Parts: sequence; C-alpha cells; structure tokens
Amino acid sequence: MKAGFPEHFLWGAASSAFQIEGGWDADGKGMTVADFNSFKRSGRQADSKVASDFYHHWKEDIALMKELGLKIYRFSISWARIIPDGDGEVNPKGIEFYNNVIDELLANGIMPFVTLYHFDLPYALVEKYNGWEARECAFAFERYARVCFKAFGDRVKWWLVHNEQNLMIRVDERMNITEPDPWKADKIRAQMDYHMFLAHALTVNACHELVEGGKIAPAVSSTCTYPLTNRPEDVWAAKMNDWFKTNYCLDMHYYGEYPGYYMRYLRERDIVPRMEPGDAELLKSAKMDFIAFNYYRTLCASYLPADAEHPVGMRAYRGNEVDFDQYGYCRDEKNTNLQASEYGAQIDPMGLRIVLNEYYARYHLPLIITENGLGTPDVLTEDGKVHDDYRIDYIRGHLDAMALAMEDGVELMGYCPWSVVDLLSSHQGFRKRYGFVYINREDMDLKDLRRIRKDSFYWYQNVIRTNGAER
Ligand code: BG6
Repeated sequence: MKAGFPEHFLWGAASSAFQIEGGWDADGKGMTVADFNSFKRSGRQADSKVASDFYHHWKEDIALMKELGLKIYRFSISWARIIPDGDGEVNPKGIEFYNNVIDELLANGIMPFVTLYHFDLPYALVEKYNGWEARECAFAFERYARVCFKAFGDRVKWWLVHNEQNLMIRVDERMNITEPDPWKADKIRAQMDYHMFLAHALTVNACHELVEGGKIAPAVSSTCTYPLTNRPEDVWAAKMNDWFKTNYCLDMHYYGEYPGYYMRYLRERDIVPRMEPGDAELLKSAKMDFIAFNYYRTLCASYLPADAEHPVGMRAYRGNEVDFDQYGYCRDEKNTNLQASEYGAQIDPMGLRIVLNEYYARYHLPLIITENGLGTPDVLTEDGKVHDDYRIDYIRGHLDAMALAMEDGVELMGYCPWSVVDLLSSHQGFRKRYGFVYINREDMDLKDLRRIRKDSFYWYQNVIRTNGAER
C-alpha cells in the first residue's frame, strides 16, 4: 500500500471525436481534415467512418466509465458535427448528440471535460481558404466555441481549446500543408500557428464571458529532451528542442507574445507572420486558468550545425515530421538508457516528474495530465480476456512519478490516461490500442464491436477506488 493521492483528485480517462465516435457523416455532420486523412488510408487500415462507434454506443460506454469509477471524462466535440461547414448553419442534431452525452455523464456522476478542437478542422474551411492559413478561420473557430459555450456551458465548466497545437503544427498532414517548397511551407506554418494563437485567445475570453465558473486551458503536447552527451552544444540542442516544440507555445499562451529566441528564429528564417493592430492586446488579455498537457515519452537530441546549403532554422526531414531535426538547433537521437514501445516511444516515467516540476515552476498554474498511455497490439485470448500487464506497468510507473512530483510541491489536479476504450490510433488504425476496454474489431473487420474489459480496467478501477493507494 502506498500513500494515497490528494482528496478530490480527478481520476479520468480521455478520447477524441474522430478517434472514438464513428458516424462520420451521421445526422448532418460535415467531413473534417481528420476524416480526409484517415480516408487516404482506407482499405489498408481502419478509418474514422466507424472507429469505436461511440456514436451508437455512448450509453453503454458511459456505463463502463461509471463502473471504472471515473470522476472526469475528457472528450472532444467535433466542430463539423456542430457546424458542418465550419462557419455556416448550426446543426441541431449535433447539439442534441453532445447534450445527450453530457447529461448521461452527469447522471452517472462523471464531470465532462471538453476539448473544442482535436485535429478535426471542418474540411469545408480547407476548401474555402486553406483553413488556418486564413485569418477568418480564427473567427470561425471563436463563433463555434461561442455556440458550444452557450449550448453546454450551463453544465460543462472545464474546457480545453486546441489539442496539441504545438504538435499539430509540425505535421503537414494535420494542417493540410501541401506546399513542396520547405521555406514556403514554413511560412504558411508560422501564419497558421499564429492564427491558432489568435483563436485560442478569442476563445479563452469568450469562455470567461459566457460560462459562469468556466475554466479553460490549452492542452499541449509536452516534450522533455535529454542531451545526447554533456557537450555544451548538445545541452543547448536539448533545450532548444523543448523550447521550439513546446515552451514557445506555452509562453505565447501565458505572456501573449513570442519569446525572444522564437522571434529570432521567425526573423532569421524570414517567416514572421502577418499581425494586425489590436492583436497584441488581444493575445495578452487572454488568461488561461490551468495547464493541460499530454505526456507519452521523452526525447534525446544532439546539436545539428547549419551550413551554406542548410540555413539556421531549416527543417531536415528524415521521414518523421513530429520529431524533426532543425539546422542550427537540434537533431533527434535515440536514448539508449530507455526501453521503447513497439512503436518507438521511449518510455520514461522520470521524464513526467521533470515536466511536471518544470511547468509548475515556470507558470505556477494548476496542472492536469490529459493524455498518457501505451499503444500496443493487444491480444484477445480464446476465453475472451486481454492480459495487458505491460499497460498496467506503464501507468503504475507514471502514477509513481506523479506522486513524487506532488511531494515536490507540484499542484496536479488530475489524470486522464489515453484512452478510455480502444480507439483509432492517429496513424496505426486499430492495430495500436491504448484503451482500458477492448473494442472487438480489427482494422478491416468490424466484427461485433463488443466492449471487453481488459485486465488494466480492473486494475485502474481499484486504483481509483483506493484513491491511488493500491497501484
Ligand atoms: C496524441 C494525440 O498526440 O497522441 C492523440 O492527442 C493520439 O490523438 C495520441 O491518438 C497517440 O498517438 P497515436 O499516433 O499512437 O494514436
């Protein structure tokens, strides 16, 4: 028996709309960028058409969440279910669906925790003006957020704006950046990122205006990068990797302006985004209430010098757009001290303690973990069980790290592991599973979509029941 977690700790679990819902065009929903990208892989792996079919199983799935003992459930609203073309008519059927989900959660004693945007921009806005590249997109998003605050804000008090803006912006497919010229692509990317910051600020302010007692935050993808060696250049590279991939984003949300090193990068690369009068005041006026972050693994970096052909700031693609290398800054390396998951994520509970301490020291805002988990190809045994002791080990290690960080003085409000049930992996369909509940389907065979509790379900249920003391 270990020491329990603080009273009222928010034990949760997470999902996102395009990964769990299915019903991709049901009741008037419009296509999204996430659907579009998943359809490109159709025929080879699962897509968002059915996913875990939460759209038709929500009652059953919420009953499972209650049985698990969840205090909070993090899920996202699909913008294109609420406003199918992104900026036109509101779809009453979309509002009705999320009303049902929210009411059922509350009836089961589970607090809804809503992300407004999880990789699924309405595709109509891409066709109209290439999505976030246009300034209008920020205002279309604000309008959608206002519709949600008015429709659900009487019952939903906890909100997240964008899921992983800082990671999404690094992945061309998610942003629909198709420009082949690297400099032009980076210029578009910087402009899109800036419009997302504007949208974030508009939405934070709208939440405070419209939702009584509402709390709102970004959900960033955290990074914790170790230097490959103790050469000062490698230490700088590791810091730069974190600053460039995460901290600039948190600083922008917190201070309302780009940090100096980031401005320098934008200037050196000649990609400073277009800003308009009044933006600076708007960005500074939006005050987030807490910080939410996702944590899966840590990174390692060495210094990558720039040269005549590769100017400072230019990205070097090695087939991995998320952990890209950047000339004059950093090169992604393998950490030989860590075990990696089958999919290459370097498993590192200590990194979570570091991140928790670092973010709390930097901003002194309460923290909540909105994703953490292990993606594996789970096996359903002949007697209908899933023995996922590896997932239990992974989560236990991270709970221990959280307990240590709280002893260090970090204010951690809750934990929402990814994912509540198996769902569509953002790149590996249903081969890579994260859930406490197995969904009986394969990539190309829908089977019966039966919900089967894994060993980790019973283990996490007991963790919650004992408030973390038995883990
Ligand atoms: C996070 C995303 O980055 O990682 C989730 O917010 C995603 O949407 C999760 O599913 C795990 O990544 P993947 O690629 O294994 O699904």
